[in-house]
Amino acid sequence: MVVLWLVLGILIIVAIGIGVLFGGAPFVPTRRAWIKQALDLSRIGKDDVIVDLGSGNGAVLGLALERGVKYAVGYEINPGLAFWSRLHLRRFRGRFSIRMTDFFRSDLPPDTTVIYMFQTSGVMRRIKPYLLSQKSHLRCKRVRVVCFGFSIPGEAVVRALGGMNLYEF
Ligand SMILES: C[S@@+](CC[C@H](N)C(=O)[O-])C[C@H]1O[C@@H](n2cnc3c(N)ncnc32)[C@H](O)[C@@H]1O
Repeated sequence: MVVLWLVLGILIIVAIGIGVLFGGAPFVPTRRAWIKQALDLSRIGKDDVIVDLGSGNGAVLGLALERGVKYAVGYEINPGLAFWSRLHLRRFRGRFSIRMTDFFRSDLPPDTTVIYMFQTSGVMRRIKPYLLSQKSHLRCKRVRVVCFGFSIPGEAVVRALGGMNLYEF
């Protein structure tokens, strides 16, 4: 019995930490109140397409969909979380997609207008070149990027609220 719990514990820790293997953050969800701050900060609305880079359990996308965004896209490297978030968001079928992939190896949807991310300082160091490399195929000329916890080095914050910083690219 003890061995079973030990194995289960190890599996859970490994599952939570999969993001770290890809140089990103482990799964730590943003609290609901803070997600609301992020959505307020970006002034998200019905014309927006939101992308969560490392979407975890899909909670950010879920609240954005409740606010009526046009479409929501999550990139999530952890298969368990990708599966869980699809289940969690099933009532919004047709208005979201979860891509089980490393976002650094993927292109953003061309109609992206808002990006949310809760990652590590290591990711934040790589994010500016990534976002600039995406600009040429994005239709929106000023994409709002909300970052929780860490800031983008060398980039001016447009507005801040709580632990959230808003940038424009
Ligand atoms: C701190 S959690 C944030 C989860 C969610 N965005 C939220 O705020 O509640 C970071 C998530 O990013 C995922 N992740 C880390 N690196 C990634 C990468 N390169 N590509 C896709 N997902 C990644 C992790 O698996 C984890 O679920």
